Amino acid sequence: MSNKVLEHIAWKEGKLHLLDQRLLPQQTVYRICVSVEDVVESIREMYVRGAPAIGISAAFGMVIAAGEALEKGLNEKEIREYLVQAGEALNGSRPTAVNLKWAIEEAGHWLASNENLSPQDIYRGLEKLAINIFEEDIINNRKIGFNGSALVPQRATILTHCNAGALATGGYGTALGVIRAAVEEGKDINVLVDETRPLLQGARITAYELVRENIPAKLITDNAAGHLMSMGKVDLIVVGADQIAANGDAANKIGTYSLAVLAEYHGIPFYVAAPLSTIDLNITSGDEIIIEERSPDEVTCLNGTAVAPEGMVALNYAFDVTPAKLITAVITEKGLAEKPNREKIASLFEA
Ligand code: MRU
Repeated sequence: MSNKVLEHIAWKEGKLHLLDQRLLPQQTVYRICVSVEDVVESIREMYVRGAPAIGISAAFGMVIAAGEALEKGLNEKEIREYLVQAGEALNGSRPTAVNLKWAIEEAGHWLASNENLSPQDIYRGLEKLAINIFEEDIINNRKIGFNGSALVPQRATILTHCNAGALATGGYGTALGVIRAAVEEGKDINVLVDETRPLLQGARITAYELVRENIPAKLITDNAAGHLMSMGKVDLIVVGADQIAANGDAANKIGTYSLAVLAEYHGIPFYVAAPLSTIDLNITSGDEIIIEERSPDEVTCLNGTAVAPEGMVALNYAFDVTPAKLITAVITEKGLAEKPNREKIASLFEA
């Protein structure tokens, strides 16, 4: 990952070190996960967030599970059963970030295709797989960046939402990877960062990454995006995704859909940047994507301080779905799906 961004996921001597992203940008504190329960909680409570980073953490969660099974002295059959349960626990931690399910399935495929293993072999095999998922994600993000940068004019103001940066992935980022690659290619880039209520991933995390790398950027309230588009001050929009269905419908942080509608109205290109691990071909359309609902407290409070009167009810959908017809292109490590549809999404997997 870009060395100017903090190390946010580290695997050290059988322990998973996760930067507590809830505390950024004020504090850089790490949580050291030593049990599957630690990893489940870190994902659910968003110490680690961003679909690919969640998937990577879950892959290491499976290694920790294998270590727990080893300590309990279980035999191969019992370890496999233990790992199924661990996978289910991890999978239940956040429902929309499909990289989580994908990473656990990868571990399942590895286990299914390797039989008669010693407990140590299982541990080492899953560890190798997790490290590989981590490293591959960074490589894929650089490819996404390269592919996406080709769509960025020499001089452009790019609007982004939430954080699809180095800290949301193994490193480099997807949407921010496109922005980073354009900057690295010498393009004159200005970024507009939606603050991204309720948890402010834009203000706290995307802004943090951009400031550290001296990439020119301005923070805006979510409500300001339409006004800026109407003034001709946005050249393109690039966001990440938590899950893309087989027809190209894409789930991402709540507020993304509104941006896509505004972009269509103003004739502004709207790009979704994501690795193939975020595309679930078993999900036919966005209607089937499970949208996570989080605690209403995240809406009624800001940094622990109430901003609504006691007794006020809030709705807190964490994600929304942007229909494929509003997406100019899905940018992946295998190339673009322009005006995405079922055939174009499928063909990315054949590339
Ligand atoms: O709730 P979060 O912070 O996990 O949401 C993150 C996003 O919506 C990102 O855009 C998405 O996961 C893509 S990260 C490369």
